[in-house]
Formats: sequence, structure tokens, C-alpha cells
Amino acid sequence: MFYYYGRKKRIVKFYPEPENDIIIEPFAGSAAYAMEYYDRNVILYEINNKIYSVWKFLKEASPNDILNLPLINKGQSLNNKEFDYLTDPEKWVIGLFLNPGSSVPKKSPGNFCYWDDSRRTILSKDVIKIKHWEIKNESYENAPDIKATWFVDPPYQNAGKYYVNSKVDYKYLGDWCKNRRGQVIVCENEGADWLDFEPLTILKGQKHNRKEVIWKNKKLICVLCGQEWGVKCQFTNVCENENCKGFCTWGYELNKPESFTINDDGKWNLNYPE
Ligand SMILES: C[S@@+](CC[C@H](N)C(=O)[O-])C[C@H]1O[C@@H](n2cnc3c(N)ncnc32)[C@H](O)[C@@H]1O
Repeated sequence: MFYYYGRKKRIVKFYPEPENDIIIEPFAGSAAYAMEYYDRNVILYEINNKIYSVWKFLKEASPNDILNLPLINKGQSLNNKEFDYLTDPEKWVIGLFLNPGSSVPKKSPGNFCYWDDSRRTILSKDVIKIKHWEIKNESYENAPDIKATWFVDPPYQNAGKYYVNSKVDYKYLGDWCKNRRGQVIVCENEGADWLDFEPLTILKGQKHNRKEVIWKNKKLICVLCGQEWGVKCQFTNVCENENCKGFCTWGYELNKPESFTINDDGKWNLNYPE
């Protein structure tokens, strides 16, 4: 939708496709993953008021509102009197295109300015795609734990200082990710240690290439019903499927055990084929 530091648009195809109709980006930025699947029920959380206001403006804007935004030449600045008629969110949208690798909207075109006629036209078509999205100016912790595809892309642990809001308790966030319901996909940079990340691909930047890593939660299957298991704790919760409610079930990962028994202490004993 717009340019942004840490945007995942160029590598979005390397991430797993969403398995749910609801996609939540609890650290929205430019929400490149949600844009790829924009017709799902998308919910964004973004704590930075400028970035949130940009989303709010885009959600409400018509294609003509975008086409009427002025192009800016080198040497001009959005601070100039001639642009006083623009609202702040309008200036911020333009500002994010003026220097595409930046985490803050700029006032004048940089060396890599992407605010031109063709990109403005693309943006005017993109705004039609997000009218059904929910966008919240709140911190990620406020997101209720619903079954969804959670695309979690927080400021990088080691290179996130460029964001206005970059303070994250990664230990807390790691546990939060492990306990979300549904499909959880977490993005990070090589070197991050708050989850057990695996290599994904290279993200080419204006100045640096970054080695991107990924963490995904494991899908658990209920031993009793064979459906996806929707609970958090293996021993204290029960499967959500109707015919299993009330039983103490134990999810297994990916492969179905051949048989299972329950020990005297109530623990499940799963037997896998040799
Ligand atoms: C790495 S960027 C997301 C990039 C995005 N995936 C994309 O494709 O453009 C992280 C975003 O999280 C926001 N953020 C930081 N702390 C937050 C918090 N506690 N809750 C919600 N958003 C937060 C930052 O303002 C920033 O926009």
C-alpha cells in the first residue's frame, strides 16, 4: 500500500499462506502480508499515531481523493505554503513515498523518490481493497485471542531502533505468540533470540541486505476427534470441538499416533508407528 522501513512486500510469498479467514497484523506498519490477501477479514493494530492516521485516511479515501494529491518536485517541500490545503494524514501518505525506506514520512523528495503519477494511480486503486478492514490505534497486547492467522512483525530485536515506537518486551511477546490461537507466523532478523527462529530469505534494503528468519507455531491435532486442536495448554485445557468437550485431550503434532493409552496419573501415552 505504501513504502515503509521493514516492509515485507518483496518477500511476502516466502511466508505461509493464511489458513484462516481472519488475518491479524498486531504490528501493522504497511501491512504487506495483509495486502497480499486483502479480501480476507483483516484487522490491524498500529501504535504509531501517524501510521495509524495514514491507514485511517486510506481506508476512508476514494480513488479521486488519491488522484487529487499533488506530485512534489525536487526542491519543493510539504512545509511550503502552497501545500497548506493538505491535511496532516494526506501529507504523511505522500511523505512515506518521498523516501521509500523510511519509517517516518518525509517532507521533500529524496534520491529514491517514489511519489510519481504511476504509483499514485496504483494507490488510488489499492484504497478500494481495504474498505472492510478494521484498523486500531492500539498496542498489540489489546488484541483479543481469537482464532486467526496472526502475522507478527514487530520492530527487529537488533535493528528496530528506527521506529518511533521500538520498545518491545521480547520475552513477553515470545510467550504471547506461543499462546495465540490459530496460525501464528513471526518475522525477525538473523540474530534474534526470543523465539526459536529458522532462516527464511534475504530482504534487500536501500543500504543493507537483511537475513530474514521465521517462527511458526505447530499445528496440533486432537487425539479424540482428529480435528485441529484449539487449546493452549496440553494438559489443562480441552479440545474445542463439540464432541470432545469435557474430555481431557492431548494434541499431537502433525502425525497421528497409532494408538494411545492413559496412565494412572492421567497423562497420555502416545504410540507412533515405527
Ligand atoms: C516491522 S514494522 C511492520 C512492517 C510491516 N509488516 C510491513 O510489511 O510494512 C513494525 C511496526 O510495529 C509498530 N509497533 C511498535 N510497537 C507496537 C506495539 N506495541 N503495538 C502495535 N504496533 C507497534 C511500529 O510502529 C511499526 O510500524
